[in-house]
Amino acid sequence: MVLFPVTIYYFPLLKNRGLPHESEKKKEVMLTAYDYQTARYAVEAGVDILLVGDSLGTNVLGYSSVHDVTLSDMLHHTRAVKRGAGTAIVVSDLPYTSMKTPEKCRDHAQSLLENGADMVKIEVETGRAPYLDLLNREKIPFCGHIGFTPQTPGLSVSLQGKTARRATELLSLAKHIEHAGAKYLILELIPYNIAAHITSSVQTPTIGIGAGPYCNGEVQVWYDICGISEKTYRHTQVFAPVGREIRTAFTEYVHAVQHDRFPTIKNAGVAPEETLLTLTGEIHP
Ligand code: KIV
Repeated sequence: MVLFPVTIYYFPLLKNRGLPHESEKKKEVMLTAYDYQTARYAVEAGVDILLVGDSLGTNVLGYSSVHDVTLSDMLHHTRAVKRGAGTAIVVSDLPYTSMKTPEKCRDHAQSLLENGADMVKIEVETGRAPYLDLLNREKIPFCGHIGFTPQTPGLSVSLQGKTARRATELLSLAKHIEHAGAKYLILELIPYNIAAHITSSVQTPTIGIGAGPYCNGEVQVWYDICGISEKTYRHTQVFAPVGREIRTAFTEYVHAVQHDRFPTIKNAGVAPEETLLTLTGEIHP
């Protein structure tokens, strides 16, 4: 049997299926958003899908783990994002606490939909079939998420699918998610050749993060692409050093106030002289 190098094998596959980078259709662009203003900026820039990810917990709320994110946190931020979302699709994460039972997951999904989400996102590892099947039965629009799934206890931040065993497991999860009627499938930290194969094996549009260029779309955490996150990762890129700009603005503000350069009288209004004289008792009305 002749074994072709993987690259020769999967590029024609992608071409034949007319995946976005080979055709007219542009890739789907997804970006996290946690509040109204960010949603507005993202939509103005052309982002198609806003993800209220549970990365909210570590990025915005200062939690040490995504496990601490509550449904009420997610509802609060979903409503804020929806207010700035315009026509963009809003996807909200089902937090870790939603995953106790399929029924709880369904109820939490319904609450998220009632509070502005167009779709929920569910992290999927083996054993989640009853959850997916229930979402499907209840016609709840959802997006699956496989690969590195931060809610999975004990799963280290690492590339998923390097071994044939794990890659096979991911492909089978992807197919199950497709059959359960997912609208999108997020592939996180998956080798690009495995992500390409999964993408060409399912009809569900794939959205990658740390999964290479051969997915149908890309998702990033906005704190990462703006250089606000405390850590840097291979899977991301700082497109504008917003974090550095914020630091500069805050530092200059502190100095300006401390050294009486701000505010000046130009930053405030003035009352008529008569008002002041009345106040000080120098004239009587
Ligand atoms: O919570 C999140 O931001 C996510 C993305 C990294 C996909 O799940």
